[in-house]
Amino acid sequence: MGLRGSLEEGCEGSHPGTYIAGVYDKGEALSSELVNAPNPLSLKIYVEGKPLSVDSMKVSFHTRSLNLKHAVLSRRTVFADEEGNRYEYASRRYVSMANVHLGVLEVEFASLDRDCNVTLRKLIDGGTANTLHPLNQPVKHYRVVDRHAGQNTSYLEAETFDSRIRIGVAVGVESSEKLPFNMVEEGDVAASECSFLAEKGRRYKFTFYFAVFTSRDPDLKSYGGSVKDACLAILRSAIGKQEAAFLSHKKAWEEKWETCQVEVDDDEVRNAVRFVIYHLLIAAPRGLDASIGAKALCSEWYGGHVFWDTEIYMLPFFLHTEPDTARSLLMYRYRRIGKAREKARGHGYDGAFWPWESALTGEDETPREWVDVDGKVVPVHHAEREIHICGDIVYAVWRYYLATGDLDFMLNAGLEIVFETARFWASRVSRRPDGKYELKCVTGPDEFHECVDNNAYTNFLARFTLKLGCELYERFGSDHPEELGRVAEKIHLQGEEVERWREIAENIVFPMDSNGLIEEFEGYFKLRDLRADASKGVPAWPESVAPSEARSTQLVKQADVVMLFHLFPDEFPPEVQRVNLDYYAERTVHASSLSPASYAMAYLNLGMAEEAYRYFRHALFIDLRNIYGNTFKGVHAASLGGSWQVVVHGFAGVRVKEGCLSVNPKLPRGINRIRFKFWYRGSLIEFDVKGRRVEARVVEGEGGVPIEHGGRRYTLSRKALVLG
Ligand code: BGC
Repeated sequence: MGLRGSLEEGCEGSHPGTYIAGVYDKGEALSSELVNAPNPLSLKIYVEGKPLSVDSMKVSFHTRSLNLKHAVLSRRTVFADEEGNRYEYASRRYVSMANVHLGVLEVEFASLDRDCNVTLRKLIDGGTANTLHPLNQPVKHYRVVDRHAGQNTSYLEAETFDSRIRIGVAVGVESSEKLPFNMVEEGDVAASECSFLAEKGRRYKFTFYFAVFTSRDPDLKSYGGSVKDACLAILRSAIGKQEAAFLSHKKAWEEKWETCQVEVDDDEVRNAVRFVIYHLLIAAPRGLDASIGAKALCSEWYGGHVFWDTEIYMLPFFLHTEPDTARSLLMYRYRRIGKAREKARGHGYDGAFWPWESALTGEDETPREWVDVDGKVVPVHHAEREIHICGDIVYAVWRYYLATGDLDFMLNAGLEIVFETARFWASRVSRRPDGKYELKCVTGPDEFHECVDNNAYTNFLARFTLKLGCELYERFGSDHPEELGRVAEKIHLQGEEVERWREIAENIVFPMDSNGLIEEFEGYFKLRDLRADASKGVPAWPESVAPSEARSTQLVKQADVVMLFHLFPDEFPPEVQRVNLDYYAERTVHASSLSPASYAMAYLNLGMAEEAYRYFRHALFIDLRNIYGNTFKGVHAASLGGSWQVVVHGFAGVRVKEGCLSVNPKLPRGINRIRFKFWYRGSLIEFDVKGRRVEARVVEGEGGVPIEHGGRRYTLSRKALVLG
């Protein structure tokens, strides 16, 4: 995997971030963290010895824009010194979608008012550290093991302290004036400099090519196994072919957009949805055994760890736009099932106990301490208690299978995940004297309430897993007996154990009163009944209440009971959904960004498109408008994935059911048309939803796709079918 994410060249005084998916290290951190790697984009410019930077000059003009279509970040800044002389700096950069090991930074410099002496210093900065740390201590995760800067090519190699992953970074330069760059000695950097007399008004152009390889990259083998050789080979093939590099990058993006594009006839929403798709696409692991962290590849916040955010919120996008990526996200989990088994054994349980936070090895990376809302360092118990992650992963496996029909995946990974997780739940429940089963001391999605008994969401997901385990054991036992036998033998699974799953599933407590109101967990209704502040649109924390009181109130951090309606819309009658939605909407403060999209989905189940739209906008613009005030810590990738689900599964109403698709649009006011493509079981289907009218046709793969609409079943083919 190459370089991805947020890269910042110099001249701004801000700290660059360079994240390479799959490179995690513990160093001195509480848990293994996504490594902020050496930065190949660091650039310093000096005019008559004075740095061209926001710290030492005035900025008279600045613009920065991201072209989402071709993933190019452009910038133009005009600096002015004390005498009023102006200097223009412009850059354009991208990391190639066609070759993830390659990136290009083009720079232009012009002195607008006078001739002057300029020095350009290009660094591969090996001094980067993880600075966004909850306990506020920067952690450096690597040491520089090799560096050199020659005539127009520099190289730096680092090795992470704990996981001993090698990271090679090479930079090659071309300049319009054929100016030579020479090495300068400077600490943990590979630095080279070029000095020249800049003539007034003349534009000096430099193109920096950068290549990145890590020792985890599977394609390293084809370069003889050395990250250095691989980096230098990539540079050699790119230098001098800037146009070709850009064209292949552009083409790769155009192909992605061809499938992933969602056209909404509201410009603001359409652009925001493009922003969502862009971020999900750049974060997807390509050919690497990795998953996507909660902040995608925008920062090291949350240690770059993988949460349920990926399976529940992001995966659906990939399921229907890049099914291979969805598969590889699930394979990331499967490859770590051994660690999940170890975690289960370590806690005295059976089967697979999945990590609440996962990184490279699959060990549970949940930090033991965190800083709470009052700034106090508090212990964290999510690794032991937030066990709904186990059901979330199984849910994702099942959705993947329904959407793709990928038998090979089920036989070689999916079944084992489901069975081993069912086994975990069966060992985690306790049996009451009345024969009922319960899950004690858990934390549901609503993390305000920790160590509660029988959290409705967790119990439901446990039941779902156990039932699915029984069903798949039977179904594969009759359709693929040999293969099922092989999986069962591998994990020593027998029919009696499966029968026990059934018994538990049928008897696990699920607290619901005669009106259908579900108690979030036992004793929840007895807590102080406070309401969220609904005065500013999406309900929020009531300012008159101290955050530390959350635990003793019915205020809910994020969709918890309501999550069930997002994930299982057909399992609860509309009256039940309504009663619960009314109750929990008043008490949920959406302190987690995951929440609004789930509420939007739940409202859409009831056809309440306007209500849904309010929550949807909150989720969709979360980063573009910095709604939570913390976008500097990275994008809220779950919210972005959730927004995609609201548009496609919610407003356009295209969902996967067992054995068919269904479509039932519920467009809110202001959106009259949505067009997109959607992979389902090897067929790419184009949908055009206008009001309640749906036009659909298969554009790639087999026709004959069953689809339900208005209670009737139709078949999609290459010929457009008009419904509604
Ligand atoms: C939320 C979790 C989420 C995590 C990472 C927490 O604040 O409560 O549900 O998985 O953030 O996004």
